[in-house]
Amino acid sequence: MRVVVVVILAGVATAQAQATYKPKPVANLKQIMRSIPYPNSNLIFDVQSKSPKDEMEWKNVENASMAIVEFANLVTIPGRVLENGQPVPVERADWNKYARGLVDAGQACYQAARKRSPEAVIGCTDRLSESCSHCHDVYRDRPQAAAAPKKP
Ligand code: HEC
Repeated sequence: MRVVVVVILAGVATAQAQATYKPKPVANLKQIMRSIPYPNSNLIFDVQSKSPKDEMEWKNVENASMAIVEFANLVTIPGRVLENGQPVPVERADWNKYARGLVDAGQACYQAARKRSPEAVIGCTDRLSESCSHCHDVYRDRPQAAAAPKKP
C-alpha cells in the first residue's frame, strides 16, 4: 500500500517539473539572426519599394516590427553562444545599448505601420538598419576588437 502512494506522489512531482519552463537559449546567435530580424526587417524594408495593399499586409508590417522589438530579449538572455562557440557578451553595456536600439526602432516602425502610412514606415527604416549596423560594426564585423579587453 505504501509503495503505491509513493509512486503516485512521484508522478505528481514529475508533472509539476514538466509544467515549468525556464527561458534558455537553444539556437546560436547567427541562427536566430537569420530566422528573426533578417526576414522581418526585409518585410519592413520592402515597403520602400511597394506599399502594403490591404489590411493583411499592413498587419504583417506591424507583426514584423514587434518581432524586432521582442528580438532584443532574445539577444540579451544569458547563456547563448555565437556560431564560433564564444558566449554572447550580454554583460557588456554597449551590447545592451545596441539591443535597446532594436526596441526603439521596432516600436517606431510599429507606430508607423499602425498609422497605415508608407511614408512613416519608410521614415523608420533608417533607424531600423542603423539598429542592426551599430551592433554589427562592433560585434560581427570586428569580433576580435570587441573581444579584446577595453583600454583603460
Ligand atoms: C546587439 C547586437 C546585434 C544587433 C542589434 C543585431 N545583430 Fe545581427 N548579428 C550580431 C552578431 C554578433 C552576429 C554574428 C553572430 C554569430 O557569429 O553567431 C550577427 C549576425 C547576423 C546575421 C547573420 C549573417 C550571416 O553571416 O549569415 C544576420 C542576417 C543579422 N545579424 C541580421 C540582423 C538584423 C537584420 C538586425 C537588425 C534588425 C541585427 N542583425 C541586429 C549582432 C547583432
